[in-house]
Amino acid sequence: MSHSYLKKILVTGGLGFIGSHTVVELQQQGFEVIIIDDLSNSSKEVLNGITAITQQTPAFAEIDLKDKQAVSAFFSNHSDIGGIIHFAAYKAVGESVEKPLQYYDNNLGGIVNLLLEAEKLNRSLPFIFSSSCTVYGQADALPITEDAPIKKANSPYGNTKQIGEEILFDVTQSKDIVNVISLRYFNPIGAHPSLEIGELPIGKPQNLVPFITQTAAGLHDKLTIFGDDYPTTDGTCVRDYIHVVDLSKAHVVALQRLLNQKQTSNYEVFNLGTGTGSSVLEVVQSFERTSGRSLAYEIGPRRTGDVIAAYADTSKANNELGWKTEKTLDEAVDSAWKWEQKIRGI
Ligand code: WQD
Repeated sequence: MSHSYLKKILVTGGLGFIGSHTVVELQQQGFEVIIIDDLSNSSKEVLNGITAITQQTPAFAEIDLKDKQAVSAFFSNHSDIGGIIHFAAYKAVGESVEKPLQYYDNNLGGIVNLLLEAEKLNRSLPFIFSSSCTVYGQADALPITEDAPIKKANSPYGNTKQIGEEILFDVTQSKDIVNVISLRYFNPIGAHPSLEIGELPIGKPQNLVPFITQTAAGLHDKLTIFGDDYPTTDGTCVRDYIHVVDLSKAHVVALQRLLNQKQTSNYEVFNLGTGTGSSVLEVVQSFERTSGRSLAYEIGPRRTGDVIAAYADTSKANNELGWKTEKTLDEAVDSAWKWEQKIRGI
């Protein structure tokens, strides 16, 4: 078996926030990368940021994974793909409630079209899936382990992650098409230390850290903290904020696990977090400490759908995957602020 294709990796959604950081880590580990992205929530400029870091411009194809013909043509030209890391998906929780069909069509149609093409390769392809801790809902026990029960998703977005995992699991049980690792992310934040790539939310950000940095940059009057009457240390919700570079490195480790056939089953799941919970107020304090600036905020009503607390039990990822986070909350929040300053020219 020629081993040349083991090195050519397809990254769908590779111009997105986590995708672009993962492309950098793949290139720095010697992989050749080809990106598929439909540019619906990203920009081709990100290719320049990746190149500025690694001096290698990944191949890029502007393809909508819902377009079966385009996906099929792509695989006809790239039958030497050695693995797939699948990020491409719509990811706004609130938007998914308003537009469920678009979310099911895009997020699930994309997975099915990729798998239909993988099946034609007649070999078992390593497949890394971008999943989310949202599949656990409000877990009964903290920290959250991979065998915590999957709760009914509280948004179509979260449901597309659950159903996506089920589709992948079922395919691994039928025949040799893909070997799968689903990575359940906690809360990805921050930017690459080079400040060549980072998070580029379109419109008003839903997520906490980009809202904080945009507020500090003057784009919003103040942050609204969605409730401070939760049963937590300071009344605000607790999450596990993981630096996007730590998260991206985990994808390369997971891919190498499959390429080296170290998996213990054809379908594996790993929680990716720091193992430490931080409250909203603690994140605000981290911003103020690292930036030396005070942040304007008010306490507002709770946000529907928010869980009280979620943070990862990292022992499986640490012990079986052989990966752990290295960066602190302060480093992640500081990199997010430095990135915001760069893209706003302040
Ligand atoms: C974090 C905390 C808010 C904004 C979601 C998805 C998850 C993943 C990450 C895509 C909560 C509070 C936020 C604000 C606030 N998305 N908050 N004011 O909801 O944990 O996770 O984003 O993959 O799948 O579910 O992240 O950053 O939106 O919120 O008080 O303006 O910050 O209430 O407690 P969340 P978040």
